[in-house]
Amino acid sequence: MIDFMTQALEIDIRGPSDYPFAMSVYFFHGQKKITVPCYRGLNILGHAQIEEVDLGSQCGGHGICGRDRIQITIGKENVSLPNETERGHLSIQEIREGWRLACQTWPHRDEDEISVEF
Ligand code: FES
Repeated sequence: MIDFMTQALEIDIRGPSDYPFAMSVYFFHGQKKITVPCYRGLNILGHAQIEEVDLGSQCGGHGICGRDRIQITIGKENVSLPNETERGHLSIQEIREGWRLACQTWPHRDEDEISVEF
């Protein structure tokens, strides 16, 4: 018999972004380096906003403006694959070079680091 009360107590009510990964996201802009702890379920735009890093978003992260272009220089394998929205804003060559939309890119593996230039 299923103990629903026990199940309910075991449900973790924290949102997905409450789970920090062990790795960090590093934002590079010229000589400036900003380090942000990496959170599961929080896109790269959200990570930038934690430290008030302006990536140029004009649509609030809805994948419309295409202004939050970033280049992932380290850790491409640690983020989600480019989605349909990104393919509408970026060329195949740009995607190969690591260009992404920050609002459409989510960390999905807790490995090493993610370095971002913008
Ligand atoms: S914030 Fe507008 S497309 Fe990402």
